[in-house]
Order: sequence, then C-alpha cells, then structure tokens
Amino acid sequence: MSEKVAVITGAGSGIGRASALALLAGGWNVALAGRRQDALEETAGMATGGTSLVVPTDVTQPDQVAALFARVKDRFGHLDVLFNNAGSNVPTTNFGDFTFEMWRKVTAVNLDAMFLCANAAFRMMRDQTPQGGRIINNGSISAHNPRPGSVAYTSTKHAITGLTKSIALDGRQYDIACGQIDIGNAATPMTARSSEGQLQPNGQVVPEARMDVNHVGQQVAFMANLPLETNVQFVTIMATKMPWIGRG
Ligand SMILES: NC(=O)c1ccc[n+]([C@@H]2O[C@H](COP(=O)([O-])OP(=O)(O)OC[C@H]3O[C@@H](n4cnc5c(N)ncnc54)[C@H](OP(=O)(O)O)[C@@H]3O)[C@@H](O)[C@H]2O)c1
Repeated sequence: MSEKVAVITGAGSGIGRASALALLAGGWNVALAGRRQDALEETAGMATGGTSLVVPTDVTQPDQVAALFARVKDRFGHLDVLFNNAGSNVPTTNFGDFTFEMWRKVTAVNLDAMFLCANAAFRMMRDQTPQGGRIINNGSISAHNPRPGSVAYTSTKHAITGLTKSIALDGRQYDIACGQIDIGNAATPMTARSSEGQLQPNGQVVPEARMDVNHVGQQVAFMANLPLETNVQFVTIMATKMPWIGRG
C-alpha cells in the first residue's frame, strides 16, 4: 500500500475530481477538499483504489484551511503533494462594467485561497521528517493571454505564475518543488458554455473545442509521481483545436 499523501482542492468536480481519481487509482491517500460534501463523497465513491478522506472546506477561510491540513497530518502523518486547484469565475463582463464585488469574488478563491493552501502545505512539508514535498498550482492558458471581459480571472491566473515561481525558489532549500499546469478547455462544469458559444476578441460568439478532462488528471498524476529531484515547472495542456495559437 502506498504511503503517498495528497491534498486536492476543488475535488468534487471537474479537474480536481479527475486528478483525485487518477491518484487514487495509483494507490495514493487523497484528502478531498471543497465546499460541497455530497460532491466530495461522490468523488470518493468513484475511486478504484487508494484511500479517500473527505474534508469539506471553504478554501477562502483561513481557519478552515488550517483545519484541513491539521486533519491530514492527524490522519496520514505527512504530506507529499498539494494540488492547488479550486477556482472560480464570474460571467464575461467588459472591464468598464466590472465591479469591485466581482473582482473580490474571483480573487478570494483564485489568489487569496491559493496562497492560503500553498502556505499551509509549504509549512507542513518544511517541518515534516523527511522534509519536502510538491505543490502543483492550477494556472490556465489565461495565465498567458486574456479572453474578452475576464479581468479578474486573467489577473489572478497571471498572478499564479508569480506564486509558482516564488514557491519554487523559496522551496529549494527545503526540498519543496512547485510547478504549474496551464489548461485550455477541459470539459468541466466551468467550460460548459465553451461548446455552446464563447465570446471571441472580434465580437463573434463561436463554439470552441474541448478535451476529455481525464487527460488533465493523468498529467497531474504524472507530475505528482515524479521524484522530488525532478519538477515539471510549467506545462500547457489544451484542446488541440481551440482558438488560442495563431491569434484565433
Ligand atoms: N476547465 C478548464 O478548461 C480550465 C482551464 C484553465 C484553468 N482551469 C482551472 O481549473 C480549476 C478547476 O476548474 P474546473 O474546470 O474543474 O471547474 P469546476 O468543476 O467548476 O471546479 C471548480 C472547483 O473549485 C471548487 N471551489 C470553488 N470555490 C471554492 C471555495 N471557496 N472553497 C473550496 N472549493 C471551492 C468547487 O467546489 P465547491 O463548489 O464544492 O466548493 C469546484 O470543485 C480552476 O482553478 C480553473 O480556473 C480550468
């Protein structure tokens, strides 16, 4: 039985679920975090191996994040990997109509909570024996280029690149690796409207290609299973035919 332990945020749906199932199939112990207990239990019920620990958590709340990592320490004793995945967005809105409330809603999950979870994981990895671990941040192809009307999402995903680089640098002395996965159009609840029609820079609304989310889960599992001497620093995985490369 594997002693490998991971925490995955947003594990009740989409990319978090697919990644949890990929690790569980490989025999990992996985703490499943997210706000909806029923969705987390559903993920646990889909597992074909490993050990699931369902921990309902609102990752925007510092006390709940602290409780999540304390629970993992109590149950498994150590932490090998955090997949810092939970994310949120608001409807497409031109910058001129974007409100501070919308901005705060997205930044609370996509940036503040990403800091909180990474910070708690980093401390646990630094202070455990043997020392070390890996943090995988979920960025986006929006960490490179914006979609129209997406200032908060784009700004937070660009910021994740800074978070990743800072953790990778500060983590070296503690054997803590940090990498980032930038995804484009995996078929999840978040991208449901992409296949119906997505606003393009030229004003047209066009259906976009999506890809099977399980390919992302496999990629996260690949990164997670590397020895700590090796790190996938950045990886982009996207639907082959989505409009991104070649200005459309
Ligand atoms: N799908 C794509 O093509 C794509 C592309 C680029 C980046 N991403 C990134 O991938 C990540 C996952 O997205 P997804 O596509 O899998 O969409 P999703 O199915 O909507 O997943 C978002 C997850 O985040 C969790 N979450 C949101 N707010 C939370 C909070 N306050 N506390 C705890 N958990 C919270 C949700 O769980 P609860 O509602 O249960 O809390 C949900 O499981 C996001 O960071 C997203 O930006 C996705």
